[in-house]
Amino acid sequence: MRIGIIGAGHAGGAIGTLLADAGHEVLLSCRHPEQLGERARNIGGQCGPIIQAATWGDIILLALPFSHTQDLDMAVKDAVIGKVVIDATNPSPEHDARAAKEVTEAGTGSGTWTLARLYGAKVVKAYNALSAASMTEYAHRDAPRLAIPIASDDADDAKLVAGLVSDCGFDPVVVGELASSASFDPGTEVWQAALTAPELRAKLGL
Ligand SMILES: NC(=O)c1ccc[n+]([C@@H]2O[C@H](COP(=O)([O-])OP(=O)(O)OC[C@H]3O[C@@H](n4cnc5c(N)ncnc54)[C@H](OP(=O)(O)O)[C@@H]3O)[C@@H](O)[C@H]2O)c1
Repeated sequence: MRIGIIGAGHAGGAIGTLLADAGHEVLLSCRHPEQLGERARNIGGQCGPIIQAATWGDIILLALPFSHTQDLDMAVKDAVIGKVVIDATNPSPEHDARAAKEVTEAGTGSGTWTLARLYGAKVVKAYNALSAASMTEYAHRDAPRLAIPIASDDADDAKLVAGLVSDCGFDPVVVGELASSASFDPGTEVWQAALTAPELRAKLGL
């Protein structure tokens, strides 16, 4: 699959490396791709501007600061309409104060907030609840693998992303519809807790 990644920092780099190692085509993007270091530039063998990732990718992965999704160019927002957009972002009370407050008050999860900013995209929440360092360190570990929770309004989209999570060396756990991303957002017991699938299911009452 061709996966266009928006955001080429810790999260985009870690997830992009795992996806590329699993045999997927990956294109990392950010606002200043020319400033990326050699390591990031070489993940998947290519990097470029955000619009390139948005148009080239069959699937898009958001790995930029949470509230900046709303500021993406209209051309980027148009390009992802109808595509599965994996939302790996987290509202930070420090850097995304206003958006984080909106997410908390709405109670429908960070994935729903993102969907409202990317109307027409098939937003799936995933890869947000483990740190980039944990994803790099624990991918493909001996059983039991660590779990990555997934929230989606569409069963087929959830299945597609579950396959990618598996390819990356983690056990996918489909938690429920997109609003259920609230159960693994920052501030919850399971966020960045490094749990196996049975542990995650038990904590979420699944
Ligand atoms: N770090 C982790 O452990 C981790 C794990 C899971 C999820 N996440 C989530 O992933 C997201 C990124 O975190 P990070 O730690 O990877 O941050 P980071 O290392 O600071 O990287 C952020 C990336 O986003 C790009 N960016 C910044 N502003 C942008 C904008 N307005 N439009 C498009 N791209 C922009 C940056 O490049 P330019 O400035 O050149 O555009 C950079 O490539 C956050 O939402 C975070 O919660 C992080």
